[in-house]
Amino acid sequence: MFKFIIHGGQKLKGEVEVSGAKNALLGLLPATILADGEYSFYNSPELLDARSMIKLLENMGEEIEFSNHTIKVKNYGLKVFEAPYEFVKKMRASIYVLGPTLSRYKYAKVSMPGGCAWGPRPINLHLEAIQKLGANVEIDQGYIIAKADTLKGAKIVFNIPSVGATVNTMMAAVYAKGTTLISNAAIEPEVTAIANFLVKMGAKISGIGTKFLEIQGVDSLHSADDTVIPDRIEAGTLLIAGAITQGNVRITRCRPDHLDALLTKLTDAGFSIETGEDFVELNSSDKILPVNVETEVYPGFPTDLQAQWISLMTIADGASEVTDNIYFDRFNHVPELNRLGANIIVKGNTAIIKGVEKLKGAKVMSTDLRASASLVLAGLVAEGTTEVLRIYHLDRGYEKIELKLKKLGAEIERVQTDEF
Ligand code: EPU
Repeated sequence: MFKFIIHGGQKLKGEVEVSGAKNALLGLLPATILADGEYSFYNSPELLDARSMIKLLENMGEEIEFSNHTIKVKNYGLKVFEAPYEFVKKMRASIYVLGPTLSRYKYAKVSMPGGCAWGPRPINLHLEAIQKLGANVEIDQGYIIAKADTLKGAKIVFNIPSVGATVNTMMAAVYAKGTTLISNAAIEPEVTAIANFLVKMGAKISGIGTKFLEIQGVDSLHSADDTVIPDRIEAGTLLIAGAITQGNVRITRCRPDHLDALLTKLTDAGFSIETGEDFVELNSSDKILPVNVETEVYPGFPTDLQAQWISLMTIADGASEVTDNIYFDRFNHVPELNRLGANIIVKGNTAIIKGVEKLKGAKVMSTDLRASASLVLAGLVAEGTTEVLRIYHLDRGYEKIELKLKKLGAEIERVQTDEF
């Protein structure tokens, strides 16, 4: 077990590169189930979640090597059509093997994901969509068992533009006979990246990047290579690290156009932002202004940056409100931030934050990936020493974040601990 020890107070300065996007990679890897052959994924982030997906696919029969940010997959037919509980309980994105396995083999068995650290995360839309395509779905002893003689194109209308349901449905529909229409599809950049990869493999998908996807079923697909898009949430977290320490940072190898909502809010909070094709530069002034945020689906402000924004607002010059409209209960970081001296109360799905003059270091505990990131950010500015426990949550989705923060001048160390 590891923890971070952070000595707060350094204004971050300098330049750091963004890694590949976790949530794109977690959809690209299961797409390899759809066709035999060899695949290379460049710019793959070295993350616990990437390793978990690799183990799951290896367990299903693929051969995978991961080194130097390249994942090489060899798929010569699956031997196992199942995602067992021990994989799914570690990572909900394991549900992504459902669509492609059903599509190609007309059978898939996937452990039903439970709730997650901050509350329920249903998968009804995934299941309703594959049923519309003609699959028979049963839940038996905690497993989803999906079967079909043939899958047939259908019209699917999501009442919520779910990222996961859009990705799973696209992968389930690529071999379905006829045309599948997905209405109110998610348009997050990761969904677009996965759709573009399916097209590289020979899938016929139009409307990519819009809320209306049209998929013409094909008889065969082939392997392909891809470069993982930059992680907009890591980029956003690093920018907020610069902001909370009132530093001046340049984040490179990113896609500024994927960060519009955050960059607008940072500008409103008094930071000066400059963007180029693949970089964002943030410069601080002497005050952090309070700015309200409501999370929305893309291109709105991402729920995956909600916790980090709350950290920034804890030391703003006044009061602000942060509302999460995607996950109403995603506030496990709030009591931990209050341990560092923040003044936050949660009412319904809104955090009401009264800016304080300073945070003070303490021991705090990570509860989930983005909550942990918010605690690290708070630790960077808290007076004295902050210890962040259970950082395995962070390692799921940030590649060696302490090295990136150190490069910017933070005093942060990863140390082994028995504390849990
Ligand atoms: N929803 C349903 N039914 C469903 C699916 C979703 O009601 O069948 C609801 C959810 O409860 C939520 C909303 O729809 O209120 C959106 O959920 P979505 O399905 O879009 O989320 P997801 O696919 O489970 C992905 C990311 C999350 C990110 C969300 C929202 C991956 C692997 N995960 O999850 O990432 O928070 O989209 O943008 O892509 C993270 O990286 O920390 C993370 C949690």
